[in-house]
Amino acid sequence: MEYTVLGTSDLRITKIGLGTWQFGTEGWGFGQDFTEQEALATVDRALALGINLIDTAEVYGDGRSEEIVGKALAGRRDRVVLATKVLPRHLRARDLVRACDESLRRLNTDHIDLYQIHWPDSYVPLSESMAGLARLVEQGKVGYVGVSNFPVPLLRAAEDAFSGRIVSNQVRYNLLQREIENEILPYCREHGITVIAYSPLAQGLLTGKYDRNHLPADKIRQQNPLFREENLEQVFPVIDVVREIGKEHGATPAQVALHWVTQQDGVIAIPGAKRPAQVEENAGALEWSLSPDELARLDAVSADLDLSYF
Ligand SMILES: NC(=O)c1ccc[n+]([C@@H]2O[C@H](COP(=O)([O-])OP(=O)(O)OC[C@H]3O[C@@H](n4cnc5c(N)ncnc54)[C@H](OP(=O)(O)O)[C@@H]3O)[C@@H](O)[C@H]2O)c1
Repeated sequence: MEYTVLGTSDLRITKIGLGTWQFGTEGWGFGQDFTEQEALATVDRALALGINLIDTAEVYGDGRSEEIVGKALAGRRDRVVLATKVLPRHLRARDLVRACDESLRRLNTDHIDLYQIHWPDSYVPLSESMAGLARLVEQGKVGYVGVSNFPVPLLRAAEDAFSGRIVSNQVRYNLLQREIENEILPYCREHGITVIAYSPLAQGLLTGKYDRNHLPADKIRQQNPLFREENLEQVFPVIDVVREIGKEHGATPAQVALHWVTQQDGVIAIPGAKRPAQVEENAGALEWSLSPDELARLDAVSADLDLSYF
């Protein structure tokens, strides 16, 4: 396992963590495609493989994800850096305390290592939410504060309003969706803020297992414009290169995609997984190297995609 430090914190985290939006979320096929037992076994396997960062959110499965993670970590909470997120509608000072207490209860713990604002909110002033988060840190309920889906102007405003340091910005980043490279990634690097890449496998597309005749049928991905025909036309040639490069290393497309993301300075990834075999494959993404030539090929084939989100 490769480690790095989370932003300016003193937390040592693995460059590949585990995302758990899938746990408890029907839209991802929870209860049909995979079960709670498989989710618990996935966390078990992640820990056995040395993964030490687990990401969840109060909104995932309406709290079920946090509950499953809490159950999976019973008796070994201290082995992981536990990250969760608060909804924008809970950013008023009083709501924040209640939301944090509820997350602590579901996670079966007395502290959250990384508490992240899930999305910015335009109604609650950042001064109020950042002051509320600072109090949670003072009380020891929260170790460090991060944000998610924050563009640069809001990230700057959040930093100005916060008495401590913001250690991370969790944003979408994968070989097919590289928009953060324009502003967010350079800003975060300059400010010592770790980018936590979500959807690093483009919600499974970069694993190479989907094609036009076999696309995921769940609600979440049916709503993801990336899976629409006009975008898939541009996506498949990239996946062909990912597959070719993987073959040269005996690596799977998922491993190439995760390797590429975590190769970017200041970036770590939290691939979601539904079962132990997936986490096993993802954990093996860093056991080999991409040559400068291969990195250049991946860069060239994915640099000018013009995906449609409308
Ligand atoms: N902050 C935010 O707003 C935000 C937004 C999205 C996600 N996230 C976080 O980021 C995490 C990851 O993002 P994501 O779940 O959207 O996308 P992802 O990690 O790109 O894709 C996850 C999906 O890919 C498939 N998969 C994973 N590993 C695989 C493997 N080795 N082989 C084959 N298939 C594999 C699984 O679905 P199938 O097997 O069904 O294909 C899995 O559910 C989430 O769990 C969540 O914690 C945060």
